Amino acid sequence: MARSARRSITRWIHVTDLQVGQVPSDVDDHDAQVEELIARVRAEKPDFVINTGDNTPGAVDDDERRFIAQCWRDFHRIVDPLASECPIFHAPGNHDQSRPGRSLDLYCRHVGRAGKRAYYAANFGDISMVMLDLLMRVGEYNAREVGTCRVMHHGAFPPGTAQHRWLRRHLSRPRQARVSIVAGHWPIFMSKYVYHATDSSLRHDELTGQSGVLLPMLIEARTDLYLCGHHHVYERSRHPQLMQVMTGADKIAWPGLMKRANRFRVASDYRIGYTRFAFDRQSNLIRGEAVALDGEIMDAWTQKPRGSKNRG
Ligand SMILES: [Fe+2]
Repeated sequence: MARSARRSITRWIHVTDLQVGQVPSDVDDHDAQVEELIARVRAEKPDFVINTGDNTPGAVDDDERRFIAQCWRDFHRIVDPLASECPIFHAPGNHDQSRPGRSLDLYCRHVGRAGKRAYYAANFGDISMVMLDLLMRVGEYNAREVGTCRVMHHGAFPPGTAQHRWLRRHLSRPRQARVSIVAGHWPIFMSKYVYHATDSSLRHDELTGQSGVLLPMLIEARTDLYLCGHHHVYERSRHPQLMQVMTGADKIAWPGLMKRANRFRVASDYRIGYTRFAFDRQSNLIRGEAVALDGEIMDAWTQKPRGSKNRG
Protein backbone atom coordinates (compact mmCIF):
# COMPACT_ATOMS: atom_id res chain seq x y z
CA MET A 1 0.00 0.00 0.00
CA ALA A 2 2.74 2.41 0.96
CA ARG A 3 4.56 2.15 -2.35
CA SER A 4 1.42 3.37 -4.15
CA ALA A 5 0.58 6.10 -1.65
CA ARG A 6 3.85 7.86 -2.53
CA ARG A 7 3.24 7.65 -6.27
CA SER A 8 1.32 10.04 -8.45
CA ILE A 9 0.07 7.30 -10.78
CA THR A 10 -1.61 4.07 -9.73
CA ARG A 11 -2.00 1.36 -12.37
CA TRP A 12 -4.24 -1.67 -12.27
CA ILE A 13 -5.54 -4.35 -14.63
CA HIS A 14 -8.85 -6.17 -14.85
CA VAL A 15 -9.08 -9.79 -16.04
CA THR A 16 -12.04 -12.14 -15.93
CA ASP A 17 -13.41 -15.55 -16.95
CA LEU A 18 -10.03 -17.27 -17.24
CA GLN A 19 -11.72 -20.72 -16.98
CA VAL A 20 -8.38 -22.53 -16.69
CA GLY A 21 -8.47 -26.28 -17.21
CA GLN A 22 -10.17 -26.68 -20.57
CA VAL A 23 -8.94 -29.55 -22.70
CA PRO A 24 -7.11 -28.38 -25.86
CA SER A 25 -9.11 -28.95 -29.03
CA ASP A 26 -8.17 -29.23 -32.70
CA VAL A 27 -9.20 -25.59 -33.03
CA ASP A 28 -7.41 -23.96 -30.12
CA ASP A 29 -5.59 -24.38 -26.82
CA HIS A 30 -7.48 -22.30 -24.29
CA ASP A 31 -5.03 -22.66 -21.38
CA ALA A 32 -2.13 -21.63 -23.62
CA GLN A 33 -4.10 -18.52 -24.50
CA VAL A 34 -4.64 -17.74 -20.80
CA GLU A 35 -0.93 -18.27 -20.16
CA GLU A 36 -0.17 -15.72 -22.85
CA LEU A 37 -2.72 -13.31 -21.37
CA ILE A 38 -1.19 -13.56 -17.89
CA ALA A 39 2.31 -13.12 -19.36
CA ARG A 40 1.14 -9.88 -20.99
CA VAL A 41 -0.44 -8.69 -17.74
CA ARG A 42 2.83 -9.41 -15.88
CA ALA A 43 4.77 -7.46 -18.50
CA GLU A 44 2.58 -4.42 -17.73
CA LYS A 45 3.84 -4.49 -14.12
CA PRO A 46 0.55 -3.25 -12.63
CA ASP A 47 0.27 -2.17 -9.00
CA PHE A 48 -2.60 -4.64 -8.56
CA VAL A 49 -5.02 -6.83 -10.52
CA ILE A 50 -8.78 -7.32 -10.21
CA ASN A 51 -10.18 -10.72 -11.27
CA THR A 52 -13.96 -11.05 -11.53
CA GLY A 53 -14.22 -14.83 -11.42
CA ASP A 54 -14.97 -18.03 -13.29
CA ASN A 55 -11.44 -19.25 -12.66
CA THR A 56 -12.20 -22.83 -13.75
CA PRO A 57 -14.98 -24.34 -15.90
CA GLY A 58 -16.43 -26.05 -12.79
CA ALA A 59 -19.80 -26.16 -11.02
CA VAL A 60 -21.49 -28.13 -13.75
CA ASP A 61 -21.54 -31.73 -12.47
CA ASP A 62 -21.64 -33.21 -8.98
CA ASP A 63 -18.83 -35.70 -9.62
CA GLU A 64 -16.15 -33.42 -11.00
CA ARG A 65 -13.95 -33.05 -7.90
CA ARG A 66 -10.83 -34.61 -9.43
CA PHE A 67 -11.28 -32.57 -12.61
CA ILE A 68 -11.70 -29.33 -10.65
CA ALA A 69 -8.69 -30.13 -8.45
CA GLN A 70 -6.60 -30.42 -11.63
CA CYS A 71 -8.10 -27.15 -12.96
CA TRP A 72 -7.05 -25.31 -9.80
CA ARG A 73 -3.54 -26.79 -10.06
CA ASP A 74 -3.35 -25.46 -13.61
CA PHE A 75 -4.78 -22.12 -12.43
CA HIS A 76 -2.06 -21.77 -9.82
CA ARG A 77 0.67 -22.77 -12.28
CA ILE A 78 -0.45 -19.98 -14.62
CA VAL A 79 -1.60 -17.25 -12.20
CA ASP A 80 0.69 -17.63 -9.16
CA PRO A 81 3.69 -15.95 -10.87
CA LEU A 82 1.49 -12.85 -11.28
CA ALA A 83 0.16 -13.16 -7.70
CA SER A 84 3.75 -13.21 -6.42
CA GLU A 85 4.40 -9.86 -8.09
CA CYS A 86 1.29 -7.85 -7.13
CA PRO A 87 -1.94 -8.26 -5.15
CA ILE A 88 -4.89 -9.85 -6.96
CA PHE A 89 -8.37 -8.97 -5.70
CA HIS A 90 -10.96 -11.63 -6.53
CA ALA A 91 -14.75 -11.73 -6.92
CA PRO A 92 -16.45 -15.12 -7.51
CA GLY A 93 -18.29 -16.24 -10.65
CA ASN A 94 -20.87 -18.94 -11.21
CA HIS A 95 -18.23 -21.52 -12.19
CA ASP A 96 -16.40 -20.95 -8.89
CA GLN A 97 -19.11 -22.74 -6.93
CA SER A 98 -18.55 -26.35 -5.83
CA ARG A 99 -21.21 -28.94 -6.44
CA PRO A 100 -23.11 -30.41 -4.73
CA GLY A 101 -24.07 -27.62 -2.34
CA ARG A 102 -22.91 -24.64 -4.39
CA SER A 103 -20.31 -23.71 -1.80
CA LEU A 104 -17.62 -21.08 -2.31
CA ASP A 105 -15.33 -22.64 0.34
CA LEU A 106 -13.02 -24.27 -2.22
CA TYR A 107 -12.87 -21.06 -4.28
CA CYS A 108 -12.05 -19.02 -1.16
CA ARG A 109 -9.23 -21.43 -0.28
CA HIS A 110 -7.71 -21.02 -3.73
CA VAL A 111 -7.90 -17.22 -3.87
CA GLY A 112 -6.39 -16.57 -0.43
CA ARG A 113 -9.65 -16.13 1.48
CA ALA A 114 -9.84 -19.45 3.33
CA GLY A 115 -12.46 -19.29 6.08
CA LYS A 116 -13.55 -15.81 5.04
CA ARG A 117 -16.58 -14.56 3.13
CA ALA A 118 -16.19 -14.09 -0.62
CA TYR A 119 -17.22 -10.40 -0.60
CA TYR A 120 -14.98 -7.75 0.94
CA ALA A 121 -13.55 -4.26 0.65
CA ALA A 122 -9.91 -3.33 0.07
CA ASN A 123 -7.78 -0.25 -0.51
CA PHE A 124 -4.68 0.41 -2.56
CA GLY A 125 -3.35 3.95 -2.24
CA ASP A 126 -5.80 6.27 -4.02
CA ILE A 127 -8.11 3.42 -4.99
CA SER A 128 -10.92 1.88 -2.91
CA MET A 129 -12.40 -1.42 -3.98
CA VAL A 130 -15.42 -3.54 -3.21
CA MET A 131 -15.47 -7.13 -4.41
CA LEU A 132 -19.01 -8.55 -4.53
CA ASP A 133 -20.46 -12.07 -4.40
CA LEU A 134 -23.33 -11.89 -6.91
CA LEU A 135 -24.15 -15.60 -7.05
CA MET A 136 -27.88 -16.19 -7.10
CA ARG A 137 -28.72 -18.75 -4.44
CA VAL A 138 -31.98 -20.48 -5.14
CA GLY A 139 -31.23 -24.03 -4.09
CA GLU A 140 -29.56 -27.00 -5.72
CA TYR A 141 -29.98 -27.75 -9.36
CA ASN A 142 -29.07 -30.78 -11.46
CA ALA A 143 -28.01 -29.77 -14.94
CA ARG A 144 -27.94 -33.39 -16.14
CA GLU A 145 -31.60 -33.90 -15.29
CA VAL A 146 -32.92 -30.78 -16.93
CA GLY A 147 -30.36 -30.32 -19.69
CA THR A 148 -29.35 -26.80 -18.77
CA CYS A 149 -27.39 -25.08 -16.04
CA ARG A 150 -29.16 -21.75 -16.47
CA VAL A 151 -29.90 -21.18 -12.76
CA MET A 152 -26.29 -21.94 -11.91
CA HIS A 153 -25.44 -19.10 -14.24
CA HIS A 154 -27.68 -16.53 -12.55
CA GLY A 155 -26.46 -13.35 -10.87
CA ALA A 156 -28.37 -11.38 -8.26
CA PHE A 157 -28.10 -8.74 -5.55
CA PRO A 158 -31.18 -9.38 -3.42
CA PRO A 159 -32.05 -6.88 -0.65
CA GLY A 160 -32.03 -7.93 2.99
CA THR A 161 -29.01 -10.22 2.76
CA ALA A 162 -25.94 -9.91 5.00
CA GLN A 163 -23.97 -8.67 1.98
CA HIS A 164 -26.60 -6.01 1.20
CA ARG A 165 -26.52 -4.73 4.78
CA TRP A 166 -22.71 -4.81 4.84
CA LEU A 167 -22.42 -2.90 1.55
CA ARG A 168 -24.89 -0.24 2.71
CA ARG A 169 -22.83 0.28 5.87
CA HIS A 170 -19.55 0.24 3.99
CA LEU A 171 -20.60 2.74 1.34
CA SER A 172 -22.01 5.16 3.91
CA ARG A 173 -18.64 5.52 5.63
CA PRO A 174 -16.32 8.39 4.69
CA ARG A 175 -13.58 7.38 2.26
CA GLN A 176 -10.16 8.89 1.71
CA ALA A 177 -9.54 7.19 -1.61
CA ARG A 178 -9.92 9.32 -4.73
CA VAL A 179 -11.26 6.53 -6.97
CA SER A 180 -14.00 4.05 -6.12
CA ILE A 181 -14.24 0.69 -7.88
CA VAL A 182 -16.88 -1.99 -7.38
CA ALA A 183 -16.35 -5.38 -9.03
CA GLY A 184 -18.71 -8.32 -9.50
CA HIS A 185 -18.97 -11.19 -11.94
CA TRP A 186 -22.20 -10.15 -13.71
CA PRO A 187 -22.89 -6.85 -15.47
CA ILE A 188 -25.57 -4.38 -14.41
CA PHE A 189 -26.05 -3.04 -17.93
CA MET A 190 -26.49 -5.70 -20.60
CA SER A 191 -28.27 -6.64 -23.79
CA LYS A 192 -31.98 -7.37 -23.36
CA TYR A 193 -31.09 -10.68 -24.99
CA VAL A 194 -29.44 -11.91 -21.77
CA TYR A 195 -31.79 -10.53 -19.11
CA HIS A 196 -32.55 -14.17 -18.26
CA ALA A 197 -29.04 -14.51 -16.73
CA THR A 198 -29.62 -11.98 -13.94
CA ASP A 199 -32.21 -11.22 -11.31
CA SER A 200 -34.09 -7.90 -11.39
CA SER A 201 -32.26 -6.93 -8.17
CA LEU A 202 -29.01 -6.74 -10.14
CA ARG A 203 -29.75 -5.60 -13.67
CA HIS A 204 -30.77 -2.24 -15.08
CA ASP A 205 -33.88 -3.24 -17.02
CA GLU A 206 -34.74 -1.17 -20.08
CA LEU A 207 -38.02 -3.03 -20.56
CA THR A 208 -39.45 -2.20 -17.13
CA GLY A 209 -37.42 0.94 -16.42
CA GLN A 210 -36.26 -0.51 -13.09
CA SER A 211 -32.72 0.01 -11.82
CA GLY A 212 -32.52 -2.95 -9.44
CA VAL A 213 -31.03 -2.78 -5.93
CA LEU A 214 -27.28 -2.48 -6.52
CA LEU A 215 -27.13 0.31 -9.10
CA PRO A 216 -28.81 3.03 -6.98
CA MET A 217 -26.42 2.19 -4.12
CA LEU A 218 -23.37 2.54 -6.37
CA ILE A 219 -24.62 5.84 -7.80
CA GLU A 220 -25.40 7.22 -4.34
CA ALA A 221 -21.85 6.29 -3.24
CA ARG A 222 -20.38 8.04 -6.32
CA THR A 223 -18.72 4.89 -7.61
CA ASP A 224 -16.44 5.56 -10.59
CA LEU A 225 -16.09 2.11 -12.15
CA TYR A 226 -18.11 -1.07 -12.08
CA LEU A 227 -15.95 -3.97 -13.40
CA CYS A 228 -17.50 -7.27 -14.48
CA GLY A 229 -17.38 -10.20 -16.90
CA HIS A 230 -19.42 -13.35 -17.49
CA HIS A 231 -20.36 -12.74 -21.14
CA HIS A 232 -16.82 -13.24 -22.53
CA VAL A 233 -16.95 -10.11 -24.67
CA TYR A 234 -15.48 -6.68 -24.14
CA GLU A 235 -18.17 -4.06 -23.60
CA ARG A 236 -18.03 -0.57 -22.08
CA SER A 237 -21.30 1.03 -21.01
CA ARG A 238 -21.41 4.69 -19.99
CA HIS A 239 -24.43 5.36 -17.81
CA PRO A 240 -24.53 9.09 -16.95
CA GLN A 241 -23.56 8.26 -13.34
CA LEU A 242 -21.54 5.04 -13.61
CA MET A 243 -19.01 3.58 -16.06
CA GLN A 244 -19.31 -0.17 -16.48
CA VAL A 245 -16.44 -2.13 -18.04
CA MET A 246 -16.99 -5.77 -18.99
CA THR A 247 -13.63 -7.25 -19.89
CA GLY A 248 -13.42 -9.79 -22.70
CA ALA A 249 -12.56 -13.48 -22.49
CA ASP A 250 -12.23 -16.51 -24.72
CA LYS A 251 -15.34 -17.52 -26.76
CA ILE A 252 -18.53 -15.47 -26.50
CA ALA A 253 -20.84 -16.89 -23.79
CA TRP A 254 -24.19 -16.00 -25.35
CA PRO A 255 -24.89 -15.44 -29.05
CA GLY A 256 -26.54 -12.16 -30.00
CA LEU A 257 -24.80 -10.00 -27.39
CA MET A 258 -23.33 -7.63 -29.91
CA LYS A 259 -26.45 -7.28 -32.03
CA ARG A 260 -28.74 -6.07 -29.27
CA ALA A 261 -26.68 -3.74 -27.10
CA ASN A 262 -27.86 -2.05 -23.93
CA ARG A 263 -28.61 1.63 -24.47
CA PHE A 264 -25.48 2.84 -22.67
CA ARG A 265 -22.95 0.79 -24.65
CA VAL A 266 -20.24 2.94 -26.19
CA ALA A 267 -17.65 0.30 -27.19
CA SER A 268 -17.48 -3.45 -27.74
CA ASP A 269 -15.23 -6.19 -29.12
CA TYR A 270 -15.38 -9.97 -29.36
CA ARG A 271 -11.72 -10.53 -28.58
CA ILE A 272 -10.17 -11.94 -25.41
CA GLY A 273 -7.98 -9.42 -23.61
CA TYR A 274 -7.56 -7.36 -20.48
CA THR A 275 -8.40 -3.81 -19.46
CA ARG A 276 -5.73 -1.57 -17.99
CA PHE A 277 -6.34 1.52 -15.93
CA ALA A 278 -4.21 4.35 -14.61
CA PHE A 279 -5.20 7.05 -12.14
CA ASP A 280 -3.03 10.16 -12.14
CA ARG A 281 -3.43 12.11 -8.93
CA GLN A 282 -1.83 15.24 -10.42
CA SER A 283 -4.34 15.55 -13.25
CA ASN A 284 -7.11 13.80 -11.28
CA LEU A 285 -7.90 11.63 -14.28
CA ILE A 286 -8.64 7.94 -14.79
CA ARG A 287 -7.41 6.52 -18.10
CA GLY A 288 -8.78 3.20 -19.37
CA GLU A 289 -7.65 1.01 -22.26
CA ALA A 290 -8.99 -2.35 -23.41
CA VAL A 291 -6.15 -4.41 -24.86
CA ALA A 292 -6.56 -7.47 -27.13
CA LEU A 293 -4.25 -10.44 -26.76
CA ASP A 294 -2.22 -9.28 -29.79
CA GLY A 295 -1.60 -5.94 -28.07
CA GLU A 296 -4.05 -3.94 -30.18
CA ILE A 297 -5.97 -1.24 -28.29
CA MET A 298 -9.68 -2.05 -28.69
CA ASP A 299 -11.01 0.93 -26.72
CA ALA A 300 -9.58 3.93 -24.85
CA TRP A 301 -11.12 6.66 -22.75
CA THR A 302 -10.57 9.02 -19.83
CA GLN A 303 -12.88 9.97 -17.00
CA LYS A 304 -12.79 12.24 -13.97
CA PRO A 305 -13.39 10.59 -10.59
CA ARG A 306 -16.77 11.56 -9.21
CA GLY A 307 -15.26 12.31 -5.79
CA SER A 308 -16.50 11.16 -2.41
CA LYS A 309 -19.53 12.97 -1.07
CA ASN A 310 -18.38 12.32 2.46
CA ARG A 311 -14.59 12.27 2.30
CA GLY A 312 -13.06 11.49 5.67
FE1 LIG B 1 -19.80 -16.59 -15.59
